[in-house]
Amino acid sequence: MNNEKLIHAIERYERSWLLFALVMIVVFLIFIGYTLTGFAFYVPSAAERIDPTTVRNEGSLFANPRVEKTGDNVYTAYVLAQAFTFLPGEIRVPKGAKVVFYVTSPDVQHGFHIRGTNVNVQVIPGEVGKVEHTFDEPGEYLVICNEYCGLGHQDMIGKIIVED
Ligand code: CUA
Repeated sequence: MNNEKLIHAIERYERSWLLFALVMIVVFLIFIGYTLTGFAFYVPSAAERIDPTTVRNEGSLFANPRVEKTGDNVYTAYVLAQAFTFLPGEIRVPKGAKVVFYVTSPDVQHGFHIRGTNVNVQVIPGEVGKVEHTFDEPGEYLVICNEYCGLGHQDMIGKIIVED
């Protein structure tokens, strides 16, 4: 192989790797874009601030943790995440229900993660976290606390039952 042919061969080789790198960059950008447009991406918003010491008192939104019907197959749930339970411990809604969750803690930091969904809230005392989810699939969904909150952390489990 003479010199010129060798140089051309090297150039081709370099070009093909350069192209490969460019293709990978485009592929990554597409993945990132896809993620940002909503898949597996959910930033819970802090709806409002609240005094954690009075959150259980009469008159507070969370005095009586509950789920209530607020529209056509739309529900609003007021959830207390506390050491070491969720109140209400069980939430029942029909299939296809859209549930707006307001979650807060009267004591320490907890998690509010609904297994099998992208609902995952860090529950901070003093803040009301707000997330919503539409339950299209009937079944039992486990609610778990995924922030270490003390000795009973692993027992902090709730349930959402979506009825057919
Ligand atoms: Cu509550 Cu961990």
